[in-house]
Amino acid sequence: MSETQITCTKVGHTYPNGVEAIKNVDATIKQGEMVSVVGQNGSGKTTLVKHFNGLLKPTDGDIMIGDLNTRENPVGLLAEKVGYVFQNPNHQIFAASVHEELSFGLKNIGLNESEIEKKVQDIADEFLLTEYLELNPYRLGFSLRKTVGMASIIAMEPDVVILDEPTTGQDYSGVKTIKESMAKLKSEGKTVIVVSHDMPLVAEETDRVLVMCNTELIFDGPPADLFINKPILEKTNLKPPQITSFSEAKNFGDNKKAVLSVEDAIKYV
Ligand SMILES: Nc1ncnc2c1ncn2[C@@H]1O[C@H](COP(=O)(O)OP(=O)(O)O)[C@@H](O)[C@H]1O
Ligand SMILES: [Mg+2]
Repeated sequence: MSETQITCTKVGHTYPNGVEAIKNVDATIKQGEMVSVVGQNGSGKTTLVKHFNGLLKPTDGDIMIGDLNTRENPVGLLAEKVGYVFQNPNHQIFAASVHEELSFGLKNIGLNESEIEKKVQDIADEFLLTEYLELNPYRLGFSLRKTVGMASIIAMEPDVVILDEPTTGQDYSGVKTIKESMAKLKSEGKTVIVVSHDMPLVAEETDRVLVMCNTELIFDGPPADLFINKPILEKTNLKPPQITSFSEAKNFGDNKKAVLSVEDAIKYV
């Protein structure tokens, strides 16, 4: 696998209607990192991550994907390195069948027919979509349709996978599939960037959190540092995972790092 680092230098984006959605964001994301992006609705999360594969171009500053400046390269080329899974699958899915949706990107990156067929079967198997391959994606429920969107991007094996609110609207089994998929991507050395309101997922599956607040990146660090940072939590109305609050009430841990999982908490009992 190749290495793709994303480097943002003083990135700002003002939409054509004059709304300034992000400003002055500096961040570098290295190959293999598990990163979450959190913050209230409208704080700029989606706008930021759509810059990471060139879907949006900065109106200020620069983004480099590896050695490619996103201003100077077409999204088709950038998307081979960084895949973005839309928050709303209806903005992504267009094919008449799940099979066609899963094949489309694979054709574009130049795989031959038998390679495509193998890949489609494998990815359908991984995401429990095999029985739906011949169906129109719009005949599936929202959560399965969202899974199709995720599978079609991951099938192309980009170095970096961006998931925009993947667990929103998913049931228990959908969330489980997503977490397993994130763990698999991590084991393969992929970078995963996940926008989420699901704090247990942020705490347990990612190593670094970017907190957006009203257009600005106001925190960048490990979840164990975020969930003891009262000023940031209050400012952004973020609630730590239940196990973190419970552990704090019980005086578990060392007061410098938040307890993030039940396995962690048990050490202090
Ligand atoms: N296409 C657009 N045109 C104009 N304003 C937009 C557009 N998309 C988002 N915005 C605005 O930009 C701000 C940030 O939105 P967004 O990045 O979607 O936030 P989040 O993902 O954190 O909810 C909001 O004020 C939103 O209304
Ligand atoms: Mg969003």
